[in-house]
Amino acid sequence: MPVILGIESSCDDTSAAVCVDGEILSNVIANQTIHAAYGGVVPELASRVHQQNIIPAVQQALLNAKVSKNDIDAVAFTRGPGLLGSLLVGVSFAKAFALGKKLPLIEVNHMQAHILAHFIDHPKPDFPFLCLTVSGGHTQIVLVKNYFDMEIVGQTMDDAAGEAMDKTSKILGLPYPGGPLIDKYARLGNPDAFKFPEPNIPDFNFSFSGLKTSILYFIRDEVAADPQFLQKRMNDICASVEKRIVTILLNKLKKAALTYNITNIALAGGVSANTGLRQGLTDLGSQMGWNCFIPQFAYCTDNAAMIAIAGHYKYLNHDFVGQNVAPLARMPF
Ligand code: KG4
Ligand code: ZN
Repeated sequence: MPVILGIESSCDDTSAAVCVDGEILSNVIANQTIHAAYGGVVPELASRVHQQNIIPAVQQALLNAKVSKNDIDAVAFTRGPGLLGSLLVGVSFAKAFALGKKLPLIEVNHMQAHILAHFIDHPKPDFPFLCLTVSGGHTQIVLVKNYFDMEIVGQTMDDAAGEAMDKTSKILGLPYPGGPLIDKYARLGNPDAFKFPEPNIPDFNFSFSGLKTSILYFIRDEVAADPQFLQKRMNDICASVEKRIVTILLNKLKKAALTYNITNIALAGGVSANTGLRQGLTDLGSQMGWNCFIPQFAYCTDNAAMIAIAGHYKYLNHDFVGQNVAPLARMPF
């Protein structure tokens, strides 16, 4: 009955969670609001705020789970990928805590953890399944053969889907992070009002940089013709952009599912919080006869619960690392 403390600090959320025997008892997330003023995450500031937040987040996670620090059997932490300065805070905390309490350390790959978030709640997907992992830094289609046997079968060649959401919102003059705002306005607009291009990219790979440029030029030309264009058509623009991003993602997912002959299909990462994507996958899934797995909102964006659950499965495999472990900005599966 392992008690795992999970630590996540790869970007701008400081999070701590407690997992007891595969069940998440607490998941505390301290968001950083300071970055909104800069229109994006400032790595140096993120690192400093993690330093302030990490101990209170862990204390609160232990308190919420009604677990003492003496009950913990292992510390699982995000080793990468992510911002190096941010990762360093979580990794250093995990190492110090483990050293002080003589506990084993478990390194976790953040992108694998997004996928393993599906093992927090029921129903849990059967292996093998395909997972579309869409976050601010990554867009991947992953063939998940077992808990830690995963193969990336397609990925973005430039921007991530979340980046496309955030960059579009910046062009529209919306504050950071823009993904949730695009979602909000898209619900009020017509998704067929404007047509944006779908790139022709081979295999199961993605590209979003051309879409971003076409949105930029479209807005520039429309605003030149009518300075009130953005105010008048914000909802329609957001709905149309969201529809294009969702169709790019789902068309590739469908192609991969047919090629690999897999009908268990999952969604993971921050962009899986998007209403249009969740609905789009649900509709496509019922049309294709898929078993679809869509995570709870709390486990879509960055959180330590997914790190703790990944840690739980690694603990069962005795998959530990030494005190010489260092964070990795890029970390392959
Ligand atoms: O997984 P995540 O929390 O952090 C990374 O590992 O990158 O993903 C963050 C991304 C951001 O780009 C954010 O705009 C996007 O997820 N996002 C959304 C929504 N909620 C978060 N994008 C569209 N609609 C949403 N509701
Ligand atoms: Zn993430």
